[in-house]
Amino acid sequence: MENFDSRTVLNVANVEIPGRVFLAPMAGITDLPYRRICRAHGAAYAVAEMVASQAQLRTSRKSQERFNLKGEQAPRGIQLLGCFSQDLADSARYAAECGAQIIDLNCGCPAKKVCSVASGAALLANEDLVKELLEAMVSSVSGPVTLKYRTGTDEAHINAVRIAKMAESVGVQMLTLHGRTRAQAFRGEAEYETIRQVKQAVGIPVIANGDIGSGAKALQVLQETGADGVLIGRAAMGNPWIFEEISAALDGRRYVPPSKKAVIDVIAEHTEAHLSFYGSERGLKTIRKHISWYFKRLDLCTDYLKRLYEENTPSGLQQALVRILEDELPDSESAMAGVLFPLEPKPHLPHHEESKDEKTGVD
Ligand SMILES: Cc1cc2nc3c(=O)[nH]c(=O)nc-3n(C[C@H](O)[C@H](O)[C@H](O)COP(=O)(O)O)c2cc1C
Repeated sequence: MENFDSRTVLNVANVEIPGRVFLAPMAGITDLPYRRICRAHGAAYAVAEMVASQAQLRTSRKSQERFNLKGEQAPRGIQLLGCFSQDLADSARYAAECGAQIIDLNCGCPAKKVCSVASGAALLANEDLVKELLEAMVSSVSGPVTLKYRTGTDEAHINAVRIAKMAESVGVQMLTLHGRTRAQAFRGEAEYETIRQVKQAVGIPVIANGDIGSGAKALQVLQETGADGVLIGRAAMGNPWIFEEISAALDGRRYVPPSKKAVIDVIAEHTEAHLSFYGSERGLKTIRKHISWYFKRLDLCTDYLKRLYEENTPSGLQQALVRILEDELPDSESAMAGVLFPLEPKPHLPHHEESKDEKTGVD
């Protein structure tokens, strides 16, 4: 089996990405604290979640949280959402001032609230507008602009290759392609043939995305598409170790799953970082979804969650959380491996869900 070297450096214009396994932007999930955790476990790049480009939304709490790259490891990126070139150009400049080295345009979000204002995946139906938006962004910042998009509007309108060529011609420096159409949203299976065609059509890095949740799948997608890297979304919910697993598979190394202690340490560290980023009042609520994903991954009874949700102080939550994990997780390494990476997909993974944030769009 071919090795791909997970640490191959990808050059995105003047920015070096130190590997080919990336964390996908997921609104309301891949915030600054979680990106840091995923990078520590092997994600070579983690762009910030989509942020609205309209000037009047820039100072909202949510936008400010998403423009916040304080302490974020390089390479730093911010993803913008919008359909007006002036807004996107201004926002791109603002994102660069906030420390973003790479500015990404979202042409992939299928959420109604986003598409109904002609943004996200709705843009795929208007290639001229996408060109105008990308040109405006490219000319507004000195660093690279990238595009994250889907294969097309629907099965009858697959235009990913045309958009790729156009994007490259206006100076876009990397493409990330989710192998589904806007109409599919998250249904059905991602296809990789269009990603292969895009890779053949352009000279800039192409990152494959969609339904990649194991080392074997990442290898298969890289082999099938010739893509330069993979972007991992839902498989990273409650599972930052996925980056280590995929990296090991690409390098042809044996994957060593985390010990019980390492798992507990990561969940406790994530919880602490989350609470300090959002403040305890909000953070105690918003950390719940992450804890529930960890528990689902670890096959822990969700009855414990109710008990945790009753905790109303950070220290109470942390202590109760660590106690449950200490008591309930198996001690042996092989048992931990079986828990984190079962052979069959876990029954209750959030695979076809959109978060509240995705449904409602931004702000
Ligand atoms: C809850 C959720 C939020 C998402 N938010 C974003 C986003 O902010 N920007 C974006 O480009 N894609 C977003 N996506 C799409 C993912 O980046 C990714 O393209 C998609 O989930 C397919 O990859 P996967 O099969 O590995 O999950 C989101 C997906 C989910 C499930």
